[in-house]
Amino acid sequence: MAQLGRRLRDMVAAEVPKLASAAEYFFKLGVEGKRFRPMVLLLMSSSLTMVLPSAAAATSDEKNWRHHKLAEITEMIHVASLLHDDVLDHADTRRGIASLNFIMGNKLAVLAGDFLLARAAFSLSTLQNDEVVGLMSKVLEHLVAGEVMQWTVDAEKSSSMDYYLQKTFYKTASLIANSCKCIAILAGHPKEVAALAFDYGRHLGLAYQLVDDLLDFTGTKASLGKPALSDLREGIATAPVLYALEEHPALQELIDRKFKDPGDVDSALKMVLASSGIRKTKELAREHASKAADAVAGFPPTTSEKASLCRRALTELTEQVITRSN
Ligand code: FPP
Ligand code: MG
Ligand code: MG
Repeated sequence: MAQLGRRLRDMVAAEVPKLASAAEYFFKLGVEGKRFRPMVLLLMSSSLTMVLPSAAAATSDEKNWRHHKLAEITEMIHVASLLHDDVLDHADTRRGIASLNFIMGNKLAVLAGDFLLARAAFSLSTLQNDEVVGLMSKVLEHLVAGEVMQWTVDAEKSSSMDYYLQKTFYKTASLIANSCKCIAILAGHPKEVAALAFDYGRHLGLAYQLVDDLLDFTGTKASLGKPALSDLREGIATAPVLYALEEHPALQELIDRKFKDPGDVDSALKMVLASSGIRKTKELAREHASKAADAVAGFPPTTSEKASLCRRALTELTEQVITRSN
């Protein structure tokens, strides 16, 4: 992970000084965040170490190089999406420090995100694998689609749990699901193994975002490193609100006007806290976490001790994702 952090800092170096300082902002020591995605991908890489037919197997060095590259690409795409997200959300804080848009303005924050995407695309091309390029391009499309779905004005969709889960897959889970699948593909594993890797990432990603949406109600600015209740303030109804709606139909009106009237955010918060919305969201997160653990249990047998250890770590992460507080 330390190596990965160093390489990421090298990869985002830019010639133009202003662009350089903007692009490196969230890769600097101390503000790199949890680096959850690269960690999952490197664990996935070691978890899938098992005997493969020699024609399909990449050499160990080559495979490791490709897997590290993919982990770096995934983190760069993630940070790019956060830079753009903070512009769209008018956020002034991220990871406990000022957001880039707050410090340098929207224009530079958007362009720094574009720059990171350009560097990620270049890096992706060096993997010389069309299927992986295709999957990671799909992820970019999903990130954009998920973000736009979130602004929906259609009353029926804005209170539909199915619509919310589809949006959540696009916005959060697609990146980790497809990256996990790419790890399997780059190591030469058969389709069934790639599908299990995808399932792990999809369920872990969904559980992660469900908890994120729940923490927006139960966390504080200090614990989250970003303001609480930001979803309501941005007019977005997430799982706790959708579950609360089943018990408090009065919420529908507030959802429809995106919590914009004075007192709406407070009233919505009260109704959510008085409902079983938080508990049901946690239960759904738990279901997805458990499905993620099932995917790991379905991996082909391995005799490698390191692979077994990393599989245990992937399984433990499914627990940590639902018990985290930031
Ligand atoms: C965070 O959500 C945002 C995302 C996970 C994705 C945002 C995607 C875009 C802005 C589309 C552009 C995509 C690319 C690839 C540049 P949040 O606002 O719910 O979370 P937060 O509380 O961390 O801000
Ligand atoms: Mg945001
Ligand atoms: Mg957002």
